This record gives sequence, C-alpha cells and structure tokens, in this order.
Amino acid sequence: MSTPKRYTITAALPYANGPKHIGHLAGAYLPADVYARYLRLNKRDVLFVCGSDEHGTAIANQAIKEKTTPREIVDKYHKLLIDCFEQFGIQFDVYHRTSDPLHHETAQAFFKNMNDRGLLEEKTTEQFYDEEAQQFLADRYITGTCPNCSHPKAYGDQCEKCGSSLNPEDLISPRSTLSGNAPVMRPTKHWYLPLDKYEKWLNEWIIEGHKDDWKVNVYGQCKSWIEGGLHPRAVTRDLDWGVKVPVEGADGKVLYVWFDAPIGYISATRQWGLNTGKDWEPYWKDADTKLVHFIGKDNIVFHCIIFPVMLHAHGGYILPDNVPANEFLNLEGDKMSTSGGWSIEMHEYLADFPGKADELRYTLLSNLPESKDSEFTWKDYQTKCTSELADIFSNFVHRTMTLVEKGHAGKVPDATVYTKDDLLVLEKAAKFPELIGDNIERYRFRDALMEFMNLARLGNKYLTDAEPWKIKNDEARVSTILNVSLQLCASLGFLSEPFLPFASQKLLRMLNLQQRGWDAGKATNHLPAGHQLNAKEMLFQKVDESMVKIQLDKLEAKRAAVIAAQPKTEEPKKEPVVVAAADLHPLADICTFDDFVKMDIRVGTIIEAEKMPKSDKLLKLKVDIGHSVRTILSGIAKHYSPEQVIGQQVTVLVNLAPRKMMGTESEGMILMAENKDGELSFVAPTKGHMHNGGIVK
Ligand code: 2FM
Ligand code: ZN
Repeated sequence: MSTPKRYTITAALPYANGPKHIGHLAGAYLPADVYARYLRLNKRDVLFVCGSDEHGTAIANQAIKEKTTPREIVDKYHKLLIDCFEQFGIQFDVYHRTSDPLHHETAQAFFKNMNDRGLLEEKTTEQFYDEEAQQFLADRYITGTCPNCSHPKAYGDQCEKCGSSLNPEDLISPRSTLSGNAPVMRPTKHWYLPLDKYEKWLNEWIIEGHKDDWKVNVYGQCKSWIEGGLHPRAVTRDLDWGVKVPVEGADGKVLYVWFDAPIGYISATRQWGLNTGKDWEPYWKDADTKLVHFIGKDNIVFHCIIFPVMLHAHGGYILPDNVPANEFLNLEGDKMSTSGGWSIEMHEYLADFPGKADELRYTLLSNLPESKDSEFTWKDYQTKCTSELADIFSNFVHRTMTLVEKGHAGKVPDATVYTKDDLLVLEKAAKFPELIGDNIERYRFRDALMEFMNLARLGNKYLTDAEPWKIKNDEARVSTILNVSLQLCASLGFLSEPFLPFASQKLLRMLNLQQRGWDAGKATNHLPAGHQLNAKEMLFQKVDESMVKIQLDKLEAKRAAVIAAQPKTEEPKKEPVVVAAADLHPLADICTFDDFVKMDIRVGTIIEAEKMPKSDKLLKLKVDIGHSVRTILSGIAKHYSPEQVIGQQVTVLVNLAPRKMMGTESEGMILMAENKDGELSFVAPTKGHMHNGGIVK
C-alpha cells in the first residue's frame, strides 16, 4: 500500500430532522473520526468533511409534524448536531449544510452539466397525486399496508417494520399523509439517472476491482444489487423543499435528496476552501487523493453505486477508494429507533453523563458493528468503564503519578538499572504504534482499540509485578521502575488520541508533554530525567452498578411514552404468547445432515397470486426464485388474500418433486410457520428485501 498524497474522508451527512442516536455515532462518525485523527497524527494531508442533510421529505414531514417550516426544523437540528459532534470530539475540518446557497449552486451545476450532456433521461410517468392538497406525493407522503408483512403504516419507499424497500404502487390501500384521502394517479415529468447503462462499468470497477479490498458486507451488497439488474432511477421529485431543478419549466420540482446529499460532500469541501483560502479541487479531482466514505449499511447503495455513477458519468472526479460501511448497533436486545422511543440520543447521553464523551467513545468503539450487527447494553458500558478504563488505564496512570508525586516531587526519576523485564516491556511498547496503526489503516477499529488497551494492560501489569512500593533501600531500582512506567504513560498519551481524545489531552497535560505524533509512540524515552510533571488528574472513574438500572428504567419509560402517545387506532403491541409444552407439536424423528442438504430452499418473491378455482384452500402463485418463475399451489387461501401476498418474500423448497393438483402442476413448496391456533405466517428473510434465488441454509 503506497501512501496517497492526501485523504478526503467523509461521514454520512445526517438528516437534520431530529436528534441522532448513538447508533449513528457508532455507524459512521466515530470510526471516521478515529481514522482522521490517526492520519493527522501521521502528518498526512487529511480533509474530514461532513454537514447536515437538510432536504428531502423526512424534513418536510417533520415540519408538518411539528407544525412549523422546514427551515425552522433544519436550523434547530443543525445546531443540535454541531453541538453534539463537538462534545463527542468528532473533529471535522468542515461541517456544512445542504441548505446553504453554495451547496445549491454546486448541486445545480452538477445536474446541469449532466443534463446538458445528455447523461440524464426525461420520462413522464403516472404518480400518486393528492387532489385535496393539490400536490404530487413523494414516497414518504404515502402510507398503506405493507405487501410483505401487512404492517398497516408502511411508507411509499420503505416498510419500517420489516425493512423491505417499496415503491408507492406496492402499498395496499394507499393513503396520502397530507389529507388522509386515497391518492389518484397523474402524469408528471422527471429526470432519470440511467444506472442500467453503467452496469458493465460497475462490474469492472466493483465486482472485479474491489473484490479483495472492500469489506465483505459492502462488497456482497453491491454485487447482489448489480447482479440483480439496475434500472434508471429518478433524480428529481415534485416537492417545494430542496434544490430547484435548474431547467426551464421545471417549477415545483427539486433534485431528489439522494442526488444532492452526496454532492454535499463536495460543497462542504468548497466551503472549507473558502474558509481556509486553500485549493479544494485536488481533494476531489487529483488521482493521488484517497477518498473514503464512512456510512451505515443503509447507505451502501447510494455511496457505492449511485454516487460513483454520478461522479464517473460527470467525469473529472475521483471515485471512493473504500466505503467501510458498518452494520447496525442494536440496543438492549432490540433495534434502535428514535421514533419507537428505543434509543439513546447523543444529546441525552451528554446531558446524563457530562464530560464523559470518551467513556461512550470507548464502549462503542470496542463493540462497533464492523462485520455484523452488534449491541449496546448499559451493563456492558458499566463493565467497560469500570474494569477497563478505570481499573486498567486510569489506575496505571494514577498509581504511577502518585508514586512520582510522593517520592520524587513530581519530577521524572532517572533510569539507571534496567532489568531484562524493563527492557522487554519497553521493546514491546515500541511495537504498538504499528500494531494499532495497521488495524486502523484496514478499518479494523475494534481490533485497534483492543491493541491500545493491551498497551495499558502491559503497563498496569508491569507496575503491579514490579511492586516498587515494596522495595526498600534501592532507590535506583525504584526510580527505574517509575521511569519506565512514565514512558509507558507517555506512549498511552500519544496513542490514545484517536480513540479517547479528551483523556489523551488530560494525560499529556499531566505529563507536561505536547502531542508528538503517532511515531513518537515508538520511542521509549519521551520523558527525560528531571522533567517536571503537572498535578495528577483522574482519567476515568468506576461507574456504579446502580446506573444500569436507572438507564434501563429511563429507556423503558421512553418507549412506554411513545406507545402511549400513539393514536388509539394503532394495533396494540402484542405481548409474547407463552405456549405451554402441551400445546406444542411433537418433534419429528431425527434426520441426518445429508437428508437436510438434499432440500434446496431458496428465497423468492410472489409476483402474481390468484384464488384457485373451486378450492377454498389453495392460492395459485407465481414465485420468482431468481433462476425462473415457478407456479406454486399453496394452501394459504384461508390465511391470506391474493392481494395481500403479492410482493411478499418467501422461502421456497424448490427441488420438491412437482405435483399435479386440480389439473395444475405445482413446482415447489412455500414454507410457512403455524401458531397454536393453526394460523399460518410466511417464513421470510428479516433483513429487508434479499435477492431472489438466495440460498436458505
Ligand atoms: O441516511 C442518512 O442519514 C442520509 N442523510 C445520509 C446522507 S449521506 C450523503 F450522501 F450525504
Ligand atoms: Zn413490511
């Protein structure tokens, strides 16, 4: 890996429609900050950009909900976001906002360039229109029943219950959220990005080109999107909040938020250029710049496929070198959700734990959802703060400082009699900058943090084993032990900065040292004998067990308040059904693994459904299983209507021998789960829409 001339690091622009929770922090901002801080300590040329994403229907909807204007909403939350990021030590070089005129100009110029060169397609299609509100309805303004899970409040673009991504036409009984009426279809013109034309290029650039260096979760998602076939995607919307479409006659139309938001990274960089008087262009246009996007998994397609296609088609811009997207952080066994009241918002944490940003940074970093979803629990937070930060890192520093303050008037004692152990410890310590740095460069922040804590462990154990407080009449030995311990404290001071910036500052202040950069950690003589230290401060304190219950109660109360505030028509949250053993169906006889693997079970999607004539049990389904479309007769007619099942993802036993029923051949079997009352329910993937043909194993 050769070192690039400069780095452009972006973290997903958060929507300024509300506060952001600690899952967002773990998903994008924290890892990006660690990466940027580490590179800066290595004296690399780094630009870390972010800003508020202030357009789109989420903001417009929030304004309706809060009975105010989108402008008021974004001003309020933009301020809150800046404040939270600052308190968590997220050190952006620029934090911009997409409502800024500079961004509108940048996004419009980008669109105009593409449109003028014929790179966008114009199409008139029928879209939902609310006759009472007299406007076309963006996806989020339409709700209805989810065709996949029957959730009655799915949005036109996504069902938040089952996670599947939807088109407004997919919804059963659609309603406008503006008037509550059923919308009608009306023609409207829009501009489309012809993604299908870039399939070959994406194949080469991602499927061939990033097989080995992109994370498995990111690469896999891209591959399945590309192989599933790409279609032209509308990049404009009928809406009055956003970047106006810069074409004559396009009144009432704005750029789709996902077209303008990533251009926000470029606008932010331009703003940084204006703020600092530096040239912004090389950060987006010079081939020797490494562009890295930090995002959560729900943003992968936009950053790996759509935005790169835009950059590539427009030309003149570099492409991301990597997109180390994270999976999701769950909370106490459940999905984190602000609207569901099951979340810890950044500002809530900061209010409850003032001055304790590093404690959360540490807990989140140690448990980042790097390759799969992970979980935050208050118990884990309490354990990590107490048994790792306080008992190891802080305790080592505190004991060392106390001994030096007491026995040596706060001056670094001289090291004159090194034992083999002393030298071995110093030698080991010198290896940590590389060990930690290597992990950071590979986006393995959990491992990097673990190595950092191993350095603290090394110091703590060294001091405990050396027991200088027990040594009598050997001043030279005691001085050497304290000297070695102080050198380790200094290394910890330098190397903690990316992870624990506030503790790092405190520790370096105690040691009366300036940050000297990453490689300084390789040395073992940071503090010369006689160097005057400052008064000791406590780095971390133990967290009391009682905190866990307080926070859990708070969380439950928040969720209960959200549920209580929901309109009465909402389906009540069902209590889990406890099934007595007597109600359970007896278990079947043992089957061997070989028996099991004979069954080829695949993910499929029901694309057509009708009642089977003369049968009250059977539905005749067409199921897309990736390789082909199968006709399957399924005995679910008493449980589902044909309309309900269209679009439903299912699992299908595809190699079941075909069987003729009532004159029609059935080519497979759909798997269903049955409850104790005999009700049937589909067994389907739970992580949103998966590609048809996916193996179930
Ligand atoms: O998912 C989100 O929160 C989006 N606002 C992220 C936008 S990232 C970028 F493209 F600006
Ligand atoms: Zn659903």
